[in-house]
Amino acid sequence: LDDPDVVAFGRADVAALLPLPDRESDKYRRGVVGVMAGSHRYTGAAVLAVGGALRAGAGLVKFAGQREPVDQVRVHWPEALITELGGGVSVHDVGRVNSWVIGPGMGVGDDSLEIAREVLAADVPALVDADGLTLAAREPSLLRREAPTVITPHVGEMARLLGVPREHIEAARLEHARLAAERFGVTVLLKGSTTVVAEEGRPTLVNTTGTPFLATGGTGDVLAGLGGTLLAAGLSCYDAASCAAYLHGLAGRVASAGAPLVAGDLLTSLPEVFASIG
Ligand code: APR
Ligand code: MG
Repeated sequence: LDDPDVVAFGRADVAALLPLPDRESDKYRRGVVGVMAGSHRYTGAAVLAVGGALRAGAGLVKFAGQREPVDQVRVHWPEALITELGGGVSVHDVGRVNSWVIGPGMGVGDDSLEIAREVLAADVPALVDADGLTLAAREPSLLRREAPTVITPHVGEMARLLGVPREHIEAARLEHARLAAERFGVTVLLKGSTTVVAEEGRPTLVNTTGTPFLATGGTGDVLAGLGGTLLAAGLSCYDAASCAAYLHGLAGRVASAGAPLVAGDLLTSLPEVFASIG
């Protein structure tokens, strides 16, 4: 990497940015995260995204989703506040949040598109991932928001968003991350063996704390929740994305220790990772 506009990102940077609770803290000041994820087919994505948000230190996580993911989140995370959408109950019934995480496993049908419109109309920072990005490829205006926005595509999602073959993105990841940041006016966290964070006017960051063992279903959902909590805590999109990539990669290292990991292991590792930073 001999690009002069690329900077590395390390433990000291994260330590300086990570918000830690103090005597004055209460759960609302730490940040309320709204999570819209999962669908009747994909319930695990909701559980993992909520887990990522909680383990990152959210003051409160408010989950909104369909019945099946709601049932699963209820079982796995009694800490979450839950709104079951449908039957006259909408995202507006979730009430006040400091950030939204939207997309993992939420589906790409017309009903999901309508929910995405409602969520992304909110005047708070949002992190858009997975199916949320597939919906944005169909309706780019979803990303034209007043409030700050982070998108977290893997290469396939990025290819769909930009309408270019995935091989082009693999061959020039930094350039495409910057292009997407510019085109959509958002902060881009492009996932893969190294993670790139790009935002117009800021140096591009490359994170290498991860491990190839992270290449397993569901790890991206944990990252989405983690990033959403950092946004709710008041970090800028650029800082939240960079810290989330760093912490998530490290959680992968700790969880794998040379052996296969499953996405839920990241949630078990996150406390150790946070403790090693603070
Ligand atoms: N080295 C290090 N980290 C990696 C590597 C690698 N070789 N490969 C993947 N990762 C990391 C990414 O940086 C990212 O943080 O693992 C995570 C994977 O996230 P996603 O690609 O979003 O995968 P996830 O959503 O968890 O898995 C299911 O796969 O094909 C997609 O769209 C499908 O949503 C579905 C998803
Ligand atoms: Mg994903």
